[in-house]
Amino acid sequence: MAGKRIVFTGGSGKAGRHAVAHLQAKGHKILNVDLKPLDLPGVNTLFADLTKSGQAFNALTSHFGFDGYELGHTPVAPDAVVHFAAIPRVLIEPDDATFAANVASTYNVIEAAMKLGVRKVIVASSETTYGVCFAEGDKDFHSFPLEEDYDIDPMDSYGLSKLCNEKTARAFAMRYGADIYALRIGNVIEPHEYGMFAEFQRKPMMRKRNAWSYVDARDLGEIVHLCLEKDGLGFQVFNAVNDGITVETPTREFLAKYCPDTPITRPLGKFEGPLSNRKAREVLGFKEAHDWRRYVGQK
Ligand SMILES: NC(=O)c1ccc[n+]([C@@H]2O[C@H](COP(=O)([O-])OP(=O)(O)OC[C@H]3O[C@@H](n4cnc5c(N)ncnc54)[C@H](O)[C@@H]3O)[C@@H](O)[C@H]2O)c1
Repeated sequence: MAGKRIVFTGGSGKAGRHAVAHLQAKGHKILNVDLKPLDLPGVNTLFADLTKSGQAFNALTSHFGFDGYELGHTPVAPDAVVHFAAIPRVLIEPDDATFAANVASTYNVIEAAMKLGVRKVIVASSETTYGVCFAEGDKDFHSFPLEEDYDIDPMDSYGLSKLCNEKTARAFAMRYGADIYALRIGNVIEPHEYGMFAEFQRKPMMRKRNAWSYVDARDLGEIVHLCLEKDGLGFQVFNAVNDGITVETPTREFLAKYCPDTPITRPLGKFEGPLSNRKAREVLGFKEAHDWRRYVGQK
């Protein structure tokens, strides 16, 4: 498949820098749009504040680099947009600022993409929409596994911003007949972070808020790549997580012990993550490359 021209927002961040590198390795040409630099040869960063609509439109109609000036025509809109830029959790900025920035930037990026004729946008949603991650106190999930048809009910400003962003994506996909896929990204784990899984075994309840799930940053890049390859699905939500539960105990046994009152709505794979990626596997053909068990115990 020929490489696409992709505007990637938030590519300087924790998740984005791995995804950008993965997409570049797949042959795509990337323009990173962020407030901060990215040190990746071959990828230019345009500094833009995406909470400003004008800057979002401009970013999507920019040359990707100086070589663009050799083409002899003004820049055209990209083939696709991947929108990861955000304030990525609560407690970084005040609640109202988090909500306003995430909702405005996502609206601006999707609107600009649609009005410029882009028909494929991938946006970062979040596991926090399932309502437990940043809940006050010990809230239970409604049922397991967590899948895309769950009645998401966050009570925090960040999770709420992501819920709103999914609705924005759906509205624009409907209005423009476009493909906009929202990824409910799990807790992102970079290659150097697998050391923390030992503690996940010792203190399993510390991972309830993440539904005992995670996504390897490189596997997340692969999910984005697969979303770029797949067309014609309209608005979609995909859980973007790895396959397995983050403990050694089989899922059914683990949930019976730690969440005895939470219903289980279908048969589960032996070690299937309670936040399930079944849809990404079945619809996108996702195959994880970075099962946490490969790395735990390594220095
Ligand atoms: N890290 C996780 O575990 C996790 C889990 C679920 C969802 N997510 C989502 O995935 C995406 C990436 O998360 P991350 O962990 O890489 O976050 P990050 O903070 O490391 O990266 C986000 C990037 O967005 C940029 N940004 C923020 N506001 C901007 C603006 N107004 N204009 C332009 N750029 C702006 C930042 O400079 C930063 O480089 C976010 O949308 C986040 O909400 C992350």
